[in-house]
Amino acid sequence: MYHPAQRLADIEPFHVVELLTRARQLEAEGRDIIHMEVGEPDFPTPEPITNAAVNAIKSGKTKYTQALGLPELRDAISTFYRQRYGLSVPASRIAVTNGASGALNLAFACLADPGSDWLLTDPGYPCNRHILRAFDGRPQNIPVGPETNFQPTPALLRQHWKPTTAGLLVASPANPTGTLLTLTEIEALADVCRENSGHLRIPTQTGQPFRRNLDTDSEANWTLIPTESGQPKVIT
Ligand SMILES: Cc1ncc(COP(=O)(O)O)c(C=O)c1O
Repeated sequence: MYHPAQRLADIEPFHVVELLTRARQLEAEGRDIIHMEVGEPDFPTPEPITNAAVNAIKSGKTKYTQALGLPELRDAISTFYRQRYGLSVPASRIAVTNGASGALNLAFACLADPGSDWLLTDPGYPCNRHILRAFDGRPQNIPVGPETNFQPTPALLRQHWKPTTAGLLVASPANPTGTLLTLTEIEALADVCRENSGHLRIPTQTGQPFRRNLDTDSEANWTLIPTESGQPKVIT
């Protein structure tokens, strides 16, 4: 007999995926559909990338790799951070995941104790609260609006932080609004997290169309802010 876990009752379907399924059905029936439901580039994956993937498969690179990612890829990411942002992020601190969702699952698996509260913006990316719920953490909404550029502020954090709050999850660019946090704003949020010994989690959507914003934003080098102990509590 099928006994679903109780937490399933709290996890709503991801409506975007349902919309996409319906849109594809209508397309299959011959309807002309303009897709605006999922956030992804409107251009195909560039040829050097698709060629590299095909060549890797053809040359037999189809086996298990190291769990944290190919060492040469982690080294290349570390070099990228050094060359582009002047940041020293050793490869040993880099884990390659299957998109932001994979990273969010791992991060919450590592950080969210059952019953811990996590501050999330409302509106925000709907999956965050469900991923958190899957690890028995509790989403704690911070309502945000145009007056704060749909991002949390230190004052809002202090207002909502409870003794059971374990950390803050922000997105820059935010979803669904696309608003960005500046380095100064992130540092101010990090300060409140530090005051409360909390975590700050910032997923970046570098594979997404917002990429250009990040590239041209001279403050894009905010990705890691070490705490006094030198250990990063900021995960991007
Ligand atoms: C804020 C935010 N977090 C996470 C994700 C999920 O990203 P991925 O598709 O890389 O798993 C998205 C996707 O749009 C997003 O906007």
